[in-house]
Amino acid sequence: MTPAPRVAALIPAAGSGTRLGLGPKAFVEVAGASLLARSVAALAPHVDEVVVALPAGWTLPPGVPARVVVGGPTRQNSVRLLLEATQAEVVLVHDAARPFLPAEVVRAVLSAAQDLGAATAALPVADTLVRAGPDQAGAGQRWGEPTPREGLWAVQTPQGFRHGVLREAHARAQDDGYVATDDAGLVARLGEPVALVPGDARLFKVTAPGDLALATALAAVWDAG
Ligand code: C5P
Repeated sequence: MTPAPRVAALIPAAGSGTRLGLGPKAFVEVAGASLLARSVAALAPHVDEVVVALPAGWTLPPGVPARVVVGGPTRQNSVRLLLEATQAEVVLVHDAARPFLPAEVVRAVLSAAQDLGAATAALPVADTLVRAGPDQAGAGQRWGEPTPREGLWAVQTPQGFRHGVLREAHARAQDDGYVATDDAGLVARLGEPVALVPGDARLFKVTAPGDLALATALAAVWDAG
């Protein structure tokens, strides 16, 4: 019998890419390689298997070393389906939309997840933060309440978990009808510890059209090095 994989990378890539407006975002190319292919290439050397969630009807391009499951209607559904598709003891969940993933971040998140049970890449917030006030009759956003940035981190992916910890977190979220934009938040709400591991500015999420220009500029340096 083939032994179960010890570490799996799970890549939710089933989003429709509405904000980018170019079809499913994971398949958008930057300097000749899709966001998905770049994410898979960054993770594959560190794990025993890679599983990706794709929109229904989509397939992986040839040469991308991963298994495929069909994703769900939300990111959280897609991750749950990915979790059900692997027996790995430790999983690394990474958004396809973050294609520039340094190896040292993968290693650090994996190591912290194995030690503590759950970990995420994250960066201390550098900008001044403010909550916008109410929109006054369509006049645009106005400065509302400033929010001290001390102690605040912006959460990225990858996020690493012992399989059982994340499975339990997803089951509880589903029972409670709780929806989050990431997985570490689901684990934290169970009272379990989550390590914050320094991420990287290059790990930004390609979301809006302007991010593509940034990604193209970065790809020139990334691909050369
Ligand atoms: O929309 P957003 O950029 O926050 O999505 C984060 C990641 O979750 C993307 O890689 C996207 O493809 C994935 N996703 C998914 N299934 C969905 C919605 C988003 O796998 N239903």
